[in-house]
Amino acid sequence: MDRIALEGGTPLHGDIPVSGAKNSAIKLMAASLLTSEPVRLTNMPRLADTRLLGRLLQRFGTSITESIGDDGQETLLHTPEITSAFAPYDLVRQMRASFNVLGPLLARTGHAKVSLPGGCTIGARPVDLHLKALEALGAHIDMHEGYVFAQAPRGLKGAEIEFPFVSVGATEHALMAATLAHGTTVFHNAACEPEIVDLAECLNAMGAKVSGAGTPTITVEGVAALKGTDWSVICDRIEAGTYALAAAMAGGEVRLTKVRPELIGILLDKMRQAGCEITTGDNTVTIKRGPGRLKAVDITTEVYPGFATDLQAQFMALMTLADGESTVRETIFENRFMHVPELSRLGASIAVQTGGEAKVTGVDELRGAQVMATDLRASACLIIAGLAAKGETIVNRVYHLDRGFENLEGKLSACGAKIRRIKGDTPVEEIDE
Ligand code: UD1
Repeated sequence: MDRIALEGGTPLHGDIPVSGAKNSAIKLMAASLLTSEPVRLTNMPRLADTRLLGRLLQRFGTSITESIGDDGQETLLHTPEITSAFAPYDLVRQMRASFNVLGPLLARTGHAKVSLPGGCTIGARPVDLHLKALEALGAHIDMHEGYVFAQAPRGLKGAEIEFPFVSVGATEHALMAATLAHGTTVFHNAACEPEIVDLAECLNAMGAKVSGAGTPTITVEGVAALKGTDWSVICDRIEAGTYALAAAMAGGEVRLTKVRPELIGILLDKMRQAGCEITTGDNTVTIKRGPGRLKAVDITTEVYPGFATDLQAQFMALMTLADGESTVRETIFENRFMHVPELSRLGASIAVQTGGEAKVTGVDELRGAQVMATDLRASACLIIAGLAAKGETIVNRVYHLDRGFENLEGKLSACGAKIRRIKGDTPVEEIDE
């Protein structure tokens, strides 16, 4: 298993280009199943998760061609016919979002058998809302032996659907299915994340009739068929936020490019409150941090446009060295503090309290140690902490990072970070040479 070794204490200077959003790319790939024509996705991030989903789509009859174009990596997905509507456990368990193939398969063929998902270990993460929405669209759902069997032999039917609470995955899933339903579907209490807008706009480019995406009420007029399109994946606001926080932690001056600053507005406000100097341009964000300590700032994770849960761990890393005590409240996922014991190994002072709250008391310094990445965003937080820790930090299990961050060590080392990947199972003794 690969590891990442970091030598902390070097300020970062340079540009970091932000990649296409993982959380959008994987939904857009699933949406390509809705049409028999080719869909070309550009600005695609090169990640373990997109490769994995590609393997799953190939089982359904999708041909995938990758190339490099003017807008980064291009992935051409073409499913002239669904040759199998079966998604096996082995592939779905490795990435929760691959469960979202269920809706498109069902909408296009009238049936699907998809394993229940696994995914990051950040709480229970059920899929009940996804299934209820598909049932409301007229699907007949059975579950046995860990599989969902869904059928709608005469097609899906438009419906009025009120989500009991906001779910990004369920909104995206049901939205895709509704594009090919007979009649009109109205979603209430839908998620408003930018990735949902990206998906809806891509679906519209494919001939769907979706309006209201980005607001809590989305209306979809079903159409008989969708066509192919070219679509550029929206920038990854979580990756952008992670590098912004890395720059704030290490110090120096970093300019993020290919980014939409408004997508990380709340984060940038919090970073300014903490004492970072931030300037934004059309597609750039510059983060500057001089010597001296940052101030402690509180955050509460919320649905978009609130503070993203996917940036909570990284912000907590920044607060470990801030002056004073900050409160980090997690309201989206239970059990999303698994990075706390690992940050403590580096010398952080954090007390997890009941009710999804953690108190971070800034310490004078972090010291390098061996740590374990427990999930995707937690891995990023350990990298951020390692950038400021004295001595060497070794992050184990970086396969989590590879799921969601394209060329992380390349991007950071281009800005002067002392970071390198240790391939395979190299014993620790050899690493120190
Ligand atoms: C997506 C993102 C993830 C991000 C999250 C919140 C992808 C691949 N993942 O995850 O990175 O952290 O949004 O912005 O896009 N829930 C249920 N039943 C359901 C569905 C969800 O109880 O059927 C619960 C979840 O357990 C969680 C909450 O609803 O507590 C929000 O989950 P949701 O917005 O669905 O997150 P994901 O789509 O899984």
